[in-house]
Amino acid sequence: MSATKDFYLSTPIYYVNDAPHIGHAYTTVAGDVLTRWHRQKGEGVWFLTGTDEHGQKVMNTAEKNGSTPQAWCDRLVEEEWKPNWHHLNIANDDFIRTTEERHMVRVQNFLQGLKDQGFIYSAKYEGPYCIGCEEFKLPGDLVNNACPVHSIPVEMVSEENWFFKLSAFVPQLIERYRNHPETCEPASARNEVLSFLEGGVTDLSISRSTFDWGIPVPWDTKQVIYVWFDALLNYATAVGLGDDPDSEGGKKFAKTWPADVHLVGKDILRFHAVIWPAMLMAAGIDVPKKIFAHGWLLVGGEKMSKSKLTGIAPRDITDHFGVDAFRYYFLRAIPFGTDGSFSWEDMGARYTSELANDFGNLASRLTAMIEKYCGGLIPAPTQSSTLAPTLAATVTAADAAICALDFQGGINSIMEFCKRVNGYVTENEPWAIAKDDSRKAELEDVLYNTAESLRALAVLLHPIMPETSEKLWFSLGADISIGEISAQRISDVANWGQLPEGSAVTKGAVLFPRLEEK
Ligand code: ME8
Ligand code: MG
Repeated sequence: MSATKDFYLSTPIYYVNDAPHIGHAYTTVAGDVLTRWHRQKGEGVWFLTGTDEHGQKVMNTAEKNGSTPQAWCDRLVEEEWKPNWHHLNIANDDFIRTTEERHMVRVQNFLQGLKDQGFIYSAKYEGPYCIGCEEFKLPGDLVNNACPVHSIPVEMVSEENWFFKLSAFVPQLIERYRNHPETCEPASARNEVLSFLEGGVTDLSISRSTFDWGIPVPWDTKQVIYVWFDALLNYATAVGLGDDPDSEGGKKFAKTWPADVHLVGKDILRFHAVIWPAMLMAAGIDVPKKIFAHGWLLVGGEKMSKSKLTGIAPRDITDHFGVDAFRYYFLRAIPFGTDGSFSWEDMGARYTSELANDFGNLASRLTAMIEKYCGGLIPAPTQSSTLAPTLAATVTAADAAICALDFQGGINSIMEFCKRVNGYVTENEPWAIAKDDSRKAELEDVLYNTAESLRALAVLLHPIMPETSEKLWFSLGADISIGEISAQRISDVANWGQLPEGSAVTKGAVLFPRLEEK
């Protein structure tokens, strides 16, 4: 039996009413960067994403497109969602679809368990429902009888439904967020959840009887399970919720649960910070360690959205800037937790100054100088360098920031180091030293220190820009002289002198080519 638990991170499972836009990619890339960082620390990791396929929104969209919901979902998942994540180099360990048998069976068992324990009762539900949010609303939530997020009129629901005793868990939830602030972040999200809980929460209708695209309520098959109750369970069904502890699913559950981070956008914070932990508390299952709600990518001041057709496809951006610049840009430019707008100008400016000039040029200058002055071979390691303590401080700062989901802070630390190395090269003028044969040792030291700094940068940037970092790693000859980049540990990055003498450097392709005029 392995005692160590995996670092388990999930993204939301996205509705398949349309293809992904850069808002979905933002969450998924953030999750990928964080899980790659933890892998680079040598931890066991489990990274889950997937799709939310039941409910009225998906059903209506399929119908409008002359398709059955299942055929619609199958096509979008295979032709849009999975290929987009592949394109963005997302290294998820699993992909769950809520129409899969493994999910539906475990959801039904879970709900039956809550019913058996007295947490489910039947009652009449009357009130507004927003299909865009797939959410029961209160009259006070509406603006001109429409949902303020989706600006579409709400539907009036009046049905006999099954209810979950959500209100019973309010005191426990308040206690949790007051005394364990790290369980819901950032602070703005936690405060929103606390004031929502303190304002009073009613029980939740968890079934619908007027349409059938969903998982049947096990004891009342004329009703389907409310899509959010179904969807939230994906995080646990995907890792074997409810399975016999000795079975494969049971072992997976022990190794992953409770989840370390559920990464979500702030639009779905309440579902994750109120309903989901209450469901788990009712079932006597550990609640996730952290819900982190990031901000929105905005278009014209409003949330970019599929429903409003304001989504920009990831490929529109990667065609121009490449995949790694895409992965870098949003995490670098927007503090995680705050809203931000995308602009071609800002992205172009950062691409040129930070990626092409600060990072890409440093790498190409170094390899060119090693070829020119050292016959293409890394010179002898230096014992230390003025850059070494800066690197050590960089690693500590970047690790602390990224593990705290401060991606911007972490990337800043790494790029500041990159700037420092550029400054070091400029100050030492190796091209001038090279003119004087008697200063060969000095020249070699400067070039070694620069190469060794790039070795460290490749590893630190690998979770963020895997493809570019690998290119750099190869061009330093490090794959042969040190080993695979993915096997390098964050905790070892600052150990000075790892690139061995004689490692053969090649002038690789330009890491960040000049942008074509648009
Ligand atoms: O809510 N800015 O799915 P969804 C930033 N199926 N992130 C954005 C964004 C934007 N403009 N637009 C979308 C659902 N996102 C449910 C989730 S989970 C059990 C069920 C991202 O397709 C962000 O992560 O509407 C947001 O929370 C999520 O996509 C919503 O995706
Ligand atoms: Mg949405």
